[in-house]
Amino acid sequence: MKEQNVTYPCSEPVLVTCGLPYASGPMHIGHMRTYVPADVFVRLLRKMRVNVTFVCGSDTHGTPIVTAAEKAGVSPKELYLKYHQHYLDLFPRLHIEFDNYGTTDDPENHHRTREIVRALQANGYVYAKELETPYCEKCGRSLPDRFVRGECPYCHADARGDECDQGCGRYLEPGEILNPRCAICGSPTKPVTRKHYYFKLTAFEDFLKEYLERVDGTKNAKNYALGWVREGLKDWCITRDLEWGVKYPGDESLTLYVWVDAPIHYISSTEQWAKRTGTPDAWEQFWLPGDGKIVHYIGQDIVYHHCIFWPAMLKGAGYNLPHAIVASGMVKIEGHNFSRSRGYVVWIEEDYLAQGLEPDLLRYYMVASTGQTRDLDFSWETFHDKVNTELVGVFGNFVYRALHFSKKHFGAVPKGSLSPDILREIERTIEGVVTGVNDYELKKVADEIMRLASVGNEYFQANKPWELVKADKEACGEILYNSLALVKALAILIEPMMPNTAEKIWSQLGYNGEDIHNALLEEAKVPPTPGSPLPKPKPVVTKIDDELLSRLKTTIERRIKDAERSDRGEPEMGMVTFEEFKKMDIRAGKILECERVPKTKKLLKLRVDIGNEERTIVTGLADLYQPEELVGMTALFLVNLEPKKIGGIESQGMILAIEHADKPDHWIPLKVEGVPPGSKVA
Ligand code: MSP
Ligand code: ZN
Repeated sequence: MKEQNVTYPCSEPVLVTCGLPYASGPMHIGHMRTYVPADVFVRLLRKMRVNVTFVCGSDTHGTPIVTAAEKAGVSPKELYLKYHQHYLDLFPRLHIEFDNYGTTDDPENHHRTREIVRALQANGYVYAKELETPYCEKCGRSLPDRFVRGECPYCHADARGDECDQGCGRYLEPGEILNPRCAICGSPTKPVTRKHYYFKLTAFEDFLKEYLERVDGTKNAKNYALGWVREGLKDWCITRDLEWGVKYPGDESLTLYVWVDAPIHYISSTEQWAKRTGTPDAWEQFWLPGDGKIVHYIGQDIVYHHCIFWPAMLKGAGYNLPHAIVASGMVKIEGHNFSRSRGYVVWIEEDYLAQGLEPDLLRYYMVASTGQTRDLDFSWETFHDKVNTELVGVFGNFVYRALHFSKKHFGAVPKGSLSPDILREIERTIEGVVTGVNDYELKKVADEIMRLASVGNEYFQANKPWELVKADKEACGEILYNSLALVKALAILIEPMMPNTAEKIWSQLGYNGEDIHNALLEEAKVPPTPGSPLPKPKPVVTKIDDELLSRLKTTIERRIKDAERSDRGEPEMGMVTFEEFKKMDIRAGKILECERVPKTKKLLKLRVDIGNEERTIVTGLADLYQPEELVGMTALFLVNLEPKKIGGIESQGMILAIEHADKPDHWIPLKVEGVPPGSKVA
């Protein structure tokens, strides 16, 4: 049951926002659970003629940035600029297209934040109070938020200053943590007292109860938040003893807590968009009380901030309230909680894009694997299955067969009429998609599309166009015409999830590929025009083969093992310590003789001058080199490798070779010119 009377498509303009990534590290697969569904949702709304604006930006303040900058030995600004650029580069590569992407350090955000805090002060919602906070004498500084660790006062797990990150997940107020110690040097801390500023959150309890009952979005968000409000709220300390951030209006020696200025960037990012599009007041339709609808996409870890602090702040300062809060379940890695330090992480650039994987596959996986509010347990194995069975086996298979057969026997879209059954299937799918959007449940959208692709496969299979083409070409054309009507519908429907794949299908139907992005949902009911020529089709999705799968799996396994080793103080797996390296005796050796080892395909027997002696060394280069090519060459040899019998001959060392850049499995000996045999390398 929906508490609010808005269903999509709606006539009001909609603003969609995403939880801002901290610009303190690279993009990872956990982030995808916020950005992909939001982008898909935006594209679906646009296909329903809804006027949508989509904004986000980098979160550049708070202790997550300051601690990361200190670790990297750079200023907070240098750090955030680097990662801000990383996010700016990566989002478009994943086809996540914001109408504005700013940072919380932009002047608009400093300005809007101070404006809102001044409004809260003027409305009587801010007061000063003496507060005891931990101070580290060794580091000589006060320890806000992530600079301190200690014991959670609720569940007694080891926690960080502002959040019980390993236990109950509660938000913690400054001064609440028990037995605090400095997160940097581990020393116990000394309490210091100074004046801080509090926001009267307790004054908003009744408002929040009423608001959370009616807010739209996912149930997890509202139910968790209602639970916290019923438990009773505490006033919220909004200042920190930290240099980096937005200055507190009234006492410039304090900065505002990062969770004050971060969500305010939703507003300032909208202002930036409005300015840039030449309609500077356009942000007001969303943020000042009026008809515009705000929809926040976030992960479950930040529900407290978005459902408690944020609506109270907006209400207290006289701004419009979010229409919906959509919270996703958390991404786990092979059953483990996400953890960079323990190696349970998948990096988007390094582990996904750099492997040549198509972004559309990940987009589909992120929305189709599991319901919006459930945890998503990522593994390459399930990713591989999803791609190979659904996208390749069902969807891609049907699209290719329909296009290929039509092209081969007709060269163009055949003549035909749309069968009422096929039209009904398409209409039913569109209805399912719209329901999915209204329920903020995009898995339903994905399932509906796959169902339609299965309908296509069954229709094609049952009508046997490959037999009809010989017996009754016109009847065959009829079947293909209807199949292509389904292909066209599938292209339009899949576009929000897989924009690049949809573009490919669109061009294979003979249209201009890019036009697919503007096609409306209702156009899915209109079959392609008979007679329009078809280009040669190609499969639009390809299988992930076993070799790639095992390579992908190895990266995670290795990272986890490395983390375990470094936890035990051992070197990372695959790493050679310098001590170990020094043990290798690598020398220049001149190849005096070279002959094939009889009855073997690959082996060559070398006689090598390594300076003070001659060695027999066997190598597997016979399929790549003629023995004459190697005679006279000076190359590098590992001469203290334990002797080993190869092809019945004892090899007393190893020629060092490198893989050919263009031909994997081809090896080139490491040559050294003009060096006397026996010269040592290390
Ligand atoms: N900077 C804050 C959000 C401020 S919003 C005013 C933050 N940053 S984050 O980089 O940690 O996360 C960015 C988005 O990704 C958030 O929506 C967050 O919920 C989501 N996720 C980050 N890691 C996640 C998982 N492991 N699983 C699911 N979503 C998670 O939070
Ligand atoms: Zn706890």
